[in-house]
Amino acid sequence: MIRRDFLKTLGVAAAGAAVGLPAAARAAANREFIDGVEPGGSLNNLDLNLRPIKPEVDKQTTIIVIGAGSRGSTYARYAEMFPYALKVVGVSDILEHRCRRTADKHGVPAEHRFGDWSEVFKVPKFADAVIVSTPDDVHYAPCMKALEMGYHVLLEKPVSPTEKECKSILAQAKKYDRIVAVCHVLRYAPYFVALREIVRSGAIGEIVSVQHMEPIQYAHMAHSYVRGNWRNSKLSTPIILAKSCHDLDILRWIIDKPCKTIVADGSLHLFKPENAPEGAPMKCTDGCPHESTCPYSAIDIYTKQKRHLNVFDLDGNKDPDFILQRLKTPPYDSYARCVYHCDNDQPDHYVAEMVFEGGKTAAFSMEAFAPAGGRRTRIMGTMGYIEGDGTRFTLWDFLTRTPKVWDRKVSEIQEYKGAGHGGGDYALERDFVEAVAFNDPGRLSSTIDVSIESHVMGFAAERSRRSGRKEKV
Ligand SMILES: NC(=O)c1ccc[n+]([C@@H]2O[C@H](COP(=O)([O-])OP(=O)(O)OC[C@H]3O[C@@H](n4cnc5c(N)ncnc54)[C@H](O)[C@@H]3O)[C@@H](O)[C@H]2O)c1
Repeated sequence: MIRRDFLKTLGVAAAGAAVGLPAAARAAANREFIDGVEPGGSLNNLDLNLRPIKPEVDKQTTIIVIGAGSRGSTYARYAEMFPYALKVVGVSDILEHRCRRTADKHGVPAEHRFGDWSEVFKVPKFADAVIVSTPDDVHYAPCMKALEMGYHVLLEKPVSPTEKECKSILAQAKKYDRIVAVCHVLRYAPYFVALREIVRSGAIGEIVSVQHMEPIQYAHMAHSYVRGNWRNSKLSTPIILAKSCHDLDILRWIIDKPCKTIVADGSLHLFKPENAPEGAPMKCTDGCPHESTCPYSAIDIYTKQKRHLNVFDLDGNKDPDFILQRLKTPPYDSYARCVYHCDNDQPDHYVAEMVFEGGKTAAFSMEAFAPAGGRRTRIMGTMGYIEGDGTRFTLWDFLTRTPKVWDRKVSEIQEYKGAGHGGGDYALERDFVEAVAFNDPGRLSSTIDVSIESHVMGFAAERSRRSGRKEKV
């Protein structure tokens, strides 16, 4: 859509007509600019390339799940929803109960149930594709082997913890001419699709700069990046990739120009031993005297707030005593650790400034001390401005001076309730299943080529944070 058509859709007579607003309305518009009070119109009726998650295929894709944890079982669920399009025919997980849980659900025969990923590739190729949803440091080897054996790959992000391995996966995908879709799920979420389409329409003129903030809910920070799988950058991946590769990717995607330089800073401020309150034991479950006044208490987060329970293999039992028992039992007791006594090193605040081709700039900030997630984005253009919170965004056109809002419900667009990542998880799978069925990687917006580019930005940011130098990308 070009800017003229866009304005027509909004009912603006001529692109050059400046509509004079009374002082009160001007003040109102200005207030909205600052704190987002009720806006004046809707963008919801625009055609912004948003589709239901049901795939349009007449061929079933068969798939092997490698890593049947949280992400693997989420992706496997899509096969239950649309069995004509996707069938799980193999499962691998080093935890036998996880392998069994997913394999039983999908009727996977005994000979296609595996432990370690390497066992999958000891038998001849028996599916169209694999899902690699193992931990970050177990992406590279299974992905390389899968490509060599002729499988297409749905690959969890981050692609790999090192730049060298990321580039090797890209080269391997080219060598064997296979589709690799990286799970940059936000590119498929209706909110971000709509945001990008509005920018591409020219509604705000030429994009000049972006401010983007990624708040991490404080208990989520404690769970994943202090106690959990991504707590240590050397054991997993630096947080700028582990958590924020989505954000760098979205910035690159919306600005639609290559990033030239990046400079980053940030550190671990709070979650370290010197900040432990006096007398705090190693675990919250060891009778900590501060447990009831600590916002990061594991007992509170898991047994009372009941957040992030998927790591405890509860099989639906959410009884607080049962969860507490799990929290005291290895290996789950690692989640009971005091946040000041973990082997963590991930920064809890991280800033990065990027310069893109043509001098466009982006300022990114990841913040761990926030009450809720929900990415905040402000996009500055020569003719307008957009501000969004992850579910709704407001557009200010400098000519009409009337704010317009996009706030469509994901469940209505996708005709499905409960899709993760703002609907991105299953929309990605729809595009992957269609890409494999038609052997057409062009149906994906997160191909391995573009995904590696934003990963390279992340590696450059981390180099800059550690060295204090501005890095070329
Ligand atoms: N796209 C996203 O937004 C998003 C969100 C969360 C996590 N992730 C990524 O997805 C991946 C998986 O994360 P998760 O939260 O599902 O973790 P998880 O721990 O729940 O699942 C990983 C599974 O892999 C299994 N596994 C480990 N080593 C294995 C091996 N050698 N062979 C076979 N199985 C093995 C584990 O037993 C576990 O069940 C990670 O790389 C993570 O960073 C992506």
